[in-house]
Amino acid sequence: MKEIKIESLLTVYDNLEELPNDVIALMKKAMEARDKSYSPYSNFSVGAAILLENNKIVTGSNQENASYPSGLCAERTAIFYAGAQYPGVTMLRMAIIAGSRNKTTDAPIPPCGACRQSIAEYEVKQDHPIELFFMGEKGKVVKSHSLANLLPLVFDKSFL
Ligand code: THU
Repeated sequence: MKEIKIESLLTVYDNLEELPNDVIALMKKAMEARDKSYSPYSNFSVGAAILLENNKIVTGSNQENASYPSGLCAERTAIFYAGAQYPGVTMLRMAIIAGSRNKTTDAPIPPCGACRQSIAEYEVKQDHPIELFFMGEKGKVVKSHSLANLLPLVFDKSFL
């Protein structure tokens, strides 16, 4: 037998202002999207903005449902829209911002497992990394250079 060590490399910025201007602009789009969140059940609003290689920006927010599992996270709302609207256009970067209406969220909020799996699908399909930046309402921002970096041992089409 042998042991395998898997590592992820993340960059942590102290605040949004430390980031390059184009990333700040994308995060602001994610903030605007978060304001459109429909989250009456969790009171947790999430916004996501995706930069495409054609310079279009696609956004999404979490959309909840009285039948809880029928709701959808912001990241998947955005990425499915991008895939549906701009098939074949490479996705370069995703910015995510999240916050609770019940308390101040200053921890960076990473995409959930189901969203990572969904983002991975497009990263594998386009054979180009999707950079991710995520944060809470304020405070630190985390960057991952790719989705694969956040989802070791990803299940993808190569196994089918
Ligand atoms: N949520 C997202 O939109 N993205 C995530 O990655 C984590 C969770 C949403 C789902 C639900 O509407 C609320 O946040 C609380 O889980």
